[in-house]
Amino acid sequence: MLINNDTIIKDTDPRIRMKSKPVSLPLTEEDKQLLTEMYTYVKESTDPELAEKKNLRPAVGISAIQLGVPKQLTAVIVKELDKNENEVVYEYMLANPRIVSSSVQKAYLESGEGCLSVAEEHEGYVVRSARVTVQGYDLLTDQKITIRARGYLAIVLQHELDHFSGTLFYDHINAGNPFPKVADAVVI
Ligand code: CO
Repeated sequence: MLINNDTIIKDTDPRIRMKSKPVSLPLTEEDKQLLTEMYTYVKESTDPELAEKKNLRPAVGISAIQLGVPKQLTAVIVKELDKNENEVVYEYMLANPRIVSSSVQKAYLESGEGCLSVAEEHEGYVVRSARVTVQGYDLLTDQKITIRARGYLAIVLQHELDHFSGTLFYDHINAGNPFPKVADAVVI
């Protein structure tokens, strides 16, 4: 499947609100190929030359419904700095991931969120859990995994898993109070 900024469906397309269904495991060749192409999109999208050449919008994650496929598949590549300022890369090709626990403490990105399926900016805090535990099958390592995520990775996983229920980031923004004060929240 050709994946670029023109083929990714936008929020003007009602399919973006569809519920995604779990896939059967082991993955079919078709699902493996789709998930691999999604991962490749995310990987290449942060390379400025490739992004320009292939019409890719920079992303840290993509879910299958954004290609019009209502399956619980998502690819995520998040780069963060550890305490010693070394780059750590968290990358996953997930099938049927689900949040099995989430912290009471909240977190949000100070600059708000964006999405490949949303062309316009939507200002406001998207308040999520600061930490989540996600379980699912990871095609990248070919095993069932448990991800204990915090920080930016936790935000990205919650954003992507929201796509499975047809939820977009701006659904979480309170239009009447887009920049709420959230007690004890981690600001990223
Ligand atoms: Co999105």
